[in-house]
Amino acid sequence: MKFFIDTANLDQIREANDFGILDGVTTNPSLMAKEGIKGHDKVMQHYVDICNIVDGDVSAEVIATDFEGIVREGHALAELHPQIVVKVPMIKDGIKAIRYFTEKGIKTNCTLVFSAGQALLAAKAGATYVSPFIGRLDDISFDGVELIQQIVNIYTIHGFETEVLAASIRNSMHIIKCAEAGADVVTCPLEPILGLLKHPLTDSGLEKFLADHNK
Ligand code: G3P
Repeated sequence: MKFFIDTANLDQIREANDFGILDGVTTNPSLMAKEGIKGHDKVMQHYVDICNIVDGDVSAEVIATDFEGIVREGHALAELHPQIVVKVPMIKDGIKAIRYFTEKGIKTNCTLVFSAGQALLAAKAGATYVSPFIGRLDDISFDGVELIQQIVNIYTIHGFETEVLAASIRNSMHIIKCAEAGADVVTCPLEPILGLLKHPLTDSGLEKFLADHNK
């Protein structure tokens, strides 16, 4: 299972990369705004900066919602760096654009996915990744992890190659549950990843080993 970090914060991307477990990065317009990255040129440069830190795929989201606009923006993003994956929203023109990019050999990430039917369409269009948002489903009392399981089952039964990228992950338990459900990728902030390190018995055990060593 791959670990992506879901942020546009370069310090956090560097920290996750230095930790040695990072396989890629996802961003979205809200995460870019959170870092104060504004204006076309600055946004494009920020994607390049991210690509220069990590080795894996870096999702960069289009803003357009019409087919021609998505295609135009997607080409501009893909030409920035070979690691760029064009992130396209789950709308009719988005699916059409994913099919277009697939035929051009450009990687895509279909975002804002909240149902198995949407995930089926993304796979049919040839998306490289599908991003179900599990935390936002949990927020409205739907089981996000159950959706991951359902999509993994459908893709396995029908042999779709689209990778299930569990997004909107809010805590370490989400990561573990997504791993159990067969997600190919989890993307989340740094904190839930670091949370996987923690166990009180590790802390107390290490404390005792060190104390005994010093006796
Ligand atoms: O990858 C999608 C993610 O950024 C959404 O997360 O926490 O805003 O629901 P969140």
